[in-house]
Amino acid sequence: MINEQYFQEFPELKTSRLFLRKQELKHAAALQQLRSNEDVMKFMDSDKHEDIETSEAFIRRNLKSFEKKTGFFWAITAAVSGNYMGDIILRKIDRTNARAEIGYTLHPDYWGHGYMKEAMREVISFGFNELGLHSIEANINPANETSRALLLKIGFMKEAYFRENYYYNGKFLDSEIYSLLEKDFLVK
Ligand SMILES: CC(C)(COP(=O)(O)OP(=O)(O)OC[C@H]1O[C@@H](n2cnc3c(N)ncnc32)[C@H](O)[C@@H]1OP(=O)(O)O)[C@@H](O)C(=O)NCCC(=O)NCCS
Repeated sequence: MINEQYFQEFPELKTSRLFLRKQELKHAAALQQLRSNEDVMKFMDSDKHEDIETSEAFIRRNLKSFEKKTGFFWAITAAVSGNYMGDIILRKIDRTNARAEIGYTLHPDYWGHGYMKEAMREVISFGFNELGLHSIEANINPANETSRALLLKIGFMKEAYFRENYYYNGKFLDSEIYSLLEKDFLVK
């Protein structure tokens, strides 16, 4: 089942254009820029990072979840320039069912060039082939068409539509749940 060795040393991952590295406090300023951007946060249904302290606290929580062996939080950086582009996370690692949830954000400067598809394939491949997951789920705001298109492209299937199950900012919001089984992930 879950291969615990990946919690000893953070698994940094490489693709042809990207270097997925451990998210650390030094990334707080770039993360704050990302998570205060109107277009990025439109369907995230979480609070904008109004200041750098919020981003630092967010990073500390994610580092803790790695220490507690429940999640991996990668900074997506450009392989050549090292520029910070976004983040990608595997969280809620459920050992009993070998399942985890994936989450991702990219700065709008980099949208539409296949970067997130590239990052997701690498993280999913790590999740199935190294970490030992059996399935990965994603939870989206049903209005987030870009995120849905990306999930479908990778082979995720719609599994559920929950009505008004998420309370945020004074409203009960709907959620769509997608999932990918290891046997359906064809690009290794
Ligand atoms: C969702 C997001 C990560 C997509 O990143 P991206 O790098 O632009 O996506 P890619 O270029 O890899 O696109 C992958 C596929 O998604 C679809 N897609 C991408 N941009 C799209 C757009 N503007 N409109 C419709 N479909 C789009 C396409 O099917 C594309 O595949 P193709 O290039 O082979 O046609 C990015 O838009 C983002 O960060 N959004 C804000 C944060 C967010 O909502 N995160 C998800 C929370 S669930």
